[in-house]
Amino acid sequence: MHETAERFVVHGGRMLSGGVQIRGSKNAASKAMVATLLTDEPCILENVPFSEEAAITRELCERIGSSITYGDDHTCSIVTPRIREHSVIELSRRNRIPILAFGPLLVRAGEAEVPFLGGDPIGHRPIDFHLEALARMGAVIERRERSYYATAPYLTGTDIAFPFPSVGATESVLLAGVLARGRTRIENAAIEPEVQNLIAMLIAMGALITCESDERRIEIEGVRQLRGVRHRIIPDRNEAVSFAVAGLATGGAITLRGAEPAHLASFIAVVRAMGIIVEENDHGLYIAPPSFVGPMDVSSVSIATAPHPGFMTDWQQPLAVFLTRAKGTSIIHETVYEDRLGYLKDLARMGADISVSDECPSDSPCRFSGRTFNHVARITGPVSLNGADIEITDIRAGMAHIIAALSATGKSVISGVAHIDRGYETLDERLRTLGADITRV
Ligand code: UD1
Repeated sequence: MHETAERFVVHGGRMLSGGVQIRGSKNAASKAMVATLLTDEPCILENVPFSEEAAITRELCERIGSSITYGDDHTCSIVTPRIREHSVIELSRRNRIPILAFGPLLVRAGEAEVPFLGGDPIGHRPIDFHLEALARMGAVIERRERSYYATAPYLTGTDIAFPFPSVGATESVLLAGVLARGRTRIENAAIEPEVQNLIAMLIAMGALITCESDERRIEIEGVRQLRGVRHRIIPDRNEAVSFAVAGLATGGAITLRGAEPAHLASFIAVVRAMGIIVEENDHGLYIAPPSFVGPMDVSSVSIATAPHPGFMTDWQQPLAVFLTRAKGTSIIHETVYEDRLGYLKDLARMGADISVSDECPSDSPCRFSGRTFNHVARITGPVSLNGADIEITDIRAGMAHIIAALSATGKSVISGVAHIDRGYETLDERLRTLGADITRV
């Protein structure tokens, strides 16, 4: 990530309202860019967000041998006639995408070297599922000082059962399996909309893939080559939730233009249970508090994050800010990452009533049960937040801080803006069009 001293200065307490266009999914776009490495034919990706994550992934693909041009309509053309460079170690520690290049590099060049990964500091974030799966497919992988180096004359399809439905590892195997010899079967696969979007792209390129979502099973029959494609990136469901909650936490109504309600089903169910109005209309998805006058009357709620179709782990941070306005005690049970509640101490500093514990709610133990991970939060409201100076350390927590600052009384200064720029295109500009007082300095 590019270091930057930029900060956001926010004067809170203004109601955000109006319509906002939801951009293409950061998490789907970067994977689609890597998938274009699987063919020597030109590919066109539509609805690619101009986020830092896409820029980092562009650098990765260009280093490998891609020629990339952006249109000003969020279209990205990529062609990789040959793999020029199989080692991308100096692009290290900036995001989690390089590991996904392992499969395409191995099937096209027989050799690959990727750095240890960066991305958000939200826990241990191992890549053992990726490495074990690729090794089962025939890759010989060596751990070096700063990188993983792998060779394979070809990859062979095999049966893989993940201990947990990892998004990245499922994508890794998809990207390796489509040009492997024979059939690869993934059990306990992730079936997130971003994974489905990647599968749709690969099928359009000529891959043979079936996905039984109810069974969490994906089967890939390897083919000899893939062709170019024109593929559209799905709307960003994390951005949609961020804007929706920014509206709610400031007492306003937001219309999400271009969002896909089916990808937001578990979020919609939770906020409706709190008393929030959610309606689809001709302009988009309208999300509003129960009333615009008087104190907000919304109920507390208990959520547990989970792989799709459950409540996404990237949504609990923005939602937590809004839970400070709900009546009673809400519970957030984070079951995907062991260490993703650190940001709550900053909300507490701003006046939120929050306690964090390592004990699962008694009726729903998760895989972190009996371990010392603080993965359960209790938030009691309603309370009003006060502005504060905050350092952002990861993208979704950073979004929670910004929403907290927007809804708080007084001024907040937020540093670590680069984390936000990695995943949100011109966030501050778009918040301003909704009425926010936020300036980049
Ligand atoms: C992706 C998303 C991230 C989202 C997450 C879960 C991108 C760039 N990021 O991250 O925003 O929060 O999915 O929806 O798409 N695990 C292992 N070993 C592995 C891989 C994963 O133990 O080899 C564990 C992780 O530590 C975590 C869980 O599996 O506890 C889920 O991680 P995973 O789904 O792989 O997340 P990412 O793909 O990194």
